[in-house]
Amino acid sequence: MLTDNHGRKISYLRLAVTDRCNLRCFYCMPEDGLDWLSREELMTYEEMLRICELVVKMGVEKIRITGGEPFVRKDMMLFLEALSKIDGLNELTITTNGVLTAPLVPELKRLGIKSVNLSLDTLDANRFFAITYRDEFGKVMQTLDELLKHDMMVKINAVVMDGKNIQDIIPLVQLTKDLPVSVRFIEEMPFNGEGHVYSGLKWDYHRILHEIREHFPSIQKLDDEPASTSYNYRIPGHRGDVGVIAAYSRTFCGTCNRIRITPDGVLKTCLYDNGVLNIRDLVRSGVSDGDLQIKLLGAFANRSRDGREAEQNRDPAHESMATIGG
Ligand code: GTP
Ligand code: 5AD
Ligand code: SF4
Repeated sequence: MLTDNHGRKISYLRLAVTDRCNLRCFYCMPEDGLDWLSREELMTYEEMLRICELVVKMGVEKIRITGGEPFVRKDMMLFLEALSKIDGLNELTITTNGVLTAPLVPELKRLGIKSVNLSLDTLDANRFFAITYRDEFGKVMQTLDELLKHDMMVKINAVVMDGKNIQDIIPLVQLTKDLPVSVRFIEEMPFNGEGHVYSGLKWDYHRILHEIREHFPSIQKLDDEPASTSYNYRIPGHRGDVGVIAAYSRTFCGTCNRIRITPDGVLKTCLYDNGVLNIRDLVRSGVSDGDLQIKLLGAFANRSRDGREAEQNRDPAHESMATIGG
């Protein structure tokens, strides 16, 4: 088993394949986008595949593909196909904004992908536009439809933002009445690429839960998976369930099993750290698998205890979530 210096199992890699995106979610990046990585800066599919194969050999069991938006990168389906063939990888999964995803669902299913996390912060087309600066609500809803039609497990991620989508909390919970989906409300984090000033957390998980309880007093706690980011609940009579992710309060660091690799190949052993190893440069300098493994183990043996400690060891975090992978 792969473990860190705090005895936590490491079994989950979040691999961000691009920083580019076809939306401009206000909590993630400025309206006019980012200073995008060049093609040379991005890891190639070959480089990423090699690293994935190595970390799976070392003990990683689950890989989540994130971005930016994964499906804006050319030939993404070919890369997923290659990943799906890695021996020993138990779970391959994706977080997507759903704009380009609907037509790809049958192929994702064929590759053995069983679950997809879909970012959707509102059920209102106008508010969708106000949050993402793009008129793509219809396509995202088509993706939701298509995923459910193909019996995929779906988690909907909704970032809760004061003054933007508070009125969507209850309608999103209501979606779980007839649809077998998990709707997860996420605390907003300061990773917005300085598109706006992060003025502190207005809606923490207590307040979000309180709002839901007011409307659904019969809500019941569910047992959570061991390294779950969300606290999960069910409402009697509903097909789906509801979760809250204390991403800013960081209540789940004690069981964190995740490492991240950014689109330009930097290893992060915590969402809140500043990057701990440049894997891309090592790979491009001709490192052997054995030496790369030693470097990775060194980084895992030096992991921050939690997101607070990781944050203390760096300048204030304002980078876009699209450059981290969520
Ligand atoms: P599952 O694998 O389905 O449990 O999903 P996940 O929660 O790991 O991934 P997803 O990409 O759906 O992310 C949902 C939210 O949780 C995003 O806002 C992530 O940034 C946040 N999140 C995921 N991992 C961490 C983490 O290690 N620390 C913090 N603070 N937030 C995280
Ligand atoms: N705070 C919280 N969650 C965020 N995400 C993107 N930016 C932020 C932020 N600043 C979420 C997206 C996506 C997930 C990977 O991260 O909604 O679902
Ligand atoms: Fe794009 Fe996701 Fe960032 Fe929204 S949160 S702009 S969908 S990368």
